[in-house]
Parts: sequence; structure tokens; C-alpha cells
Amino acid sequence: MVVASAPGKVILLGEHAVVYGEPAIATAIDLRTRVRATRRAAGSGTIVNGYPLTPAYHTHLVHALDVAAEAIGAPLADVAFETESRIPSAAGLGSSAALTTATLAAVLALAGATKDEEHLARLAYEVEWRAQGGRGSPTDTSTVAHGRAVLVDRDARERLLWTVKRGERTWHLHHLDAPAVSIVIGNTQERGRTTDQVAKVAKLVAKSGFAKEIVKDVGKSTRDGIDALRAGDWPRLGRAMDRAHNSLTTLGVSTPRLDQFCETARKAGALGAKLTGSGGGGSMIALAKDPERVAAALAKHRAQTFVVALGAEGARVEEGP
Ligand code: MEV
Repeated sequence: MVVASAPGKVILLGEHAVVYGEPAIATAIDLRTRVRATRRAAGSGTIVNGYPLTPAYHTHLVHALDVAAEAIGAPLADVAFETESRIPSAAGLGSSAALTTATLAAVLALAGATKDEEHLARLAYEVEWRAQGGRGSPTDTSTVAHGRAVLVDRDARERLLWTVKRGERTWHLHHLDAPAVSIVIGNTQERGRTTDQVAKVAKLVAKSGFAKEIVKDVGKSTRDGIDALRAGDWPRLGRAMDRAHNSLTTLGVSTPRLDQFCETARKAGALGAKLTGSGGGGSMIALAKDPERVAAALAKHRAQTFVVALGAEGARVEEGP
């Protein structure tokens, strides 16, 4: 038996634009997914929380088993998985990346083939790539595998972790010390599907020069945010978040509720607020000196709120094999 866990994540700046080579900053958060994997008798099949493994319901798990089997060169069957998560699903908080990465860590350890975090990040990205129909960047999976915080850039800089290439794109993933701040998450509880939002933006970018400019604007806000982080200038980081939210709204991935949450957070004293992750529902994040006050204001609008520290530990095997 093996138990592995992985954290959720928030994208502080750069979602969607990172798919097109602009930079992004993402950090792991202290909400985790745990996966317990136990071998079953040969021929008895694989089950998940007591039910047979079904591709329609367990897309990421099915791809994770395939990718892990390819990595070790042997089939992986007859496993009982039990999953437990504090990360709400389809909320822009990395629940799929966490489930994928924790599952990979668990089955690889069960097969006696534990991988380092770089290997795990690469395999997890392969799973997400397949699950998302061949789209998306390695931001979520690398953040969840490495933990702490990650800077994604088209240029390699200091503290490079690894480089990922897919088609004409190259992403350099760097370690970043997580900013010593708490942030407020407001989950709209409207489900946003990453695959749909990424496909929608891809369509827009393919046909509109204006959309390409907006993607570059998101990149500019991210660069400004990176400088603000280096200088510890939180008001400037907040302003970069506000600008990024406006650009993402123009790209069509915000919703009225996400906009309302951002307004509410700002009125309650947040230095900045924006949607996080793929949008189309999901969550907003706010940077605030008094996070509890912002969380209380959001709760009045029926948000599911979390005040989280940034920079949680990455994927790890907790028990076994
Ligand atoms: C989703 O958390 C982040 C996106 O930028 C997609 C990706 O990078 O793969 C929207």
C-alpha cells in the first residue's frame, strides 16, 4: 500500500497567456489531494473509491495509469485507489493536476519505480496533455510536482528547474521563493472546465489579432508582477493582478460572478483581485493585508472562501510502499 499526496495551486499571474509563451507565476497552496493505492488480486481489475475504473468518469486516472505503465515498461492493473481531496474540483485550483501527480507518485512507488520531481512533473504533464486533447502548458503540473512557487518563462534564467518542449513551444520552469503572504480564494462554485476554456481562447487567438494583443497584455502584467514580487511591493503586485483580470475578461474567460467577487474583494480592502486558473467559473484570488475581512465580504455573496498560505510542499509519498 502506498499513500501519496500533492498540493493544489493558484496562478498568481499569467494564465492562458502562458500557453502562448508569455510568463506565469504559480504557487502551491496548502490544500492537498491524497491517493491511497493498494494492490488487488491478479485479474480482479482496478477500482476507484469502490467503483470500477471508468474512462468517462476517471479520465485523468486512466491516462495516469497508461503514462505510468509506459514509463516503467509494464502494465499496471489490479489496483484499488482511494482518493480524498480538500481541493474543490473544476475550481481553477489545480485539482486535476494534484490528482494526476499524486496518482502517478502512488502507482510508481507501488511498482517500485519512484521518480524524482522532474520526472513526475514531465509524466503529469503528459497525462494533462492527453486529458486536455493536446493543449495547455506545463504550469499546473510542474507547480504541483515541485511545490513552493514556480516562474514559467520562455527564457531560461537563474534557478531553472527543467525545460519542457511541445511542438513549437518551449517553457522554462524555475524555482521561485513563494511570496510570504496569504491570499484569499473565493470559489464561485460555478464549474469551469480547463479543456473548454483553453480551447475557446485557442480559437480566438487563431483568428483575431486583437486577442493576440490581449495575450501580450497579460504577459506585460505578469512581468510587472514579477518585478513587484522581487521588490516586495505588494500594492504594485495588486495593481498587476487587477490589470490581468481586465485582460482575461476581454479574452472572454471571466464570468459576472468572478467580476463581482473581484469588486467585492477590492471594496473590502484587497490590494488586487483576479480570476485564477482557466476561468469560465471557478475561483478568484485576492491579495489583502486583512484577508479575513475580504473573506467575510465574499462569504456574504455565497463564495466558498479559503485563506491560504502560499508555497506548500510539492507531491510526496507519505506512506509505503
Ligand atoms: C489553468 O490552470 C492554466 C491555463 O493557463 C492552462 C494551461 O496553462 O495549461 C489556463
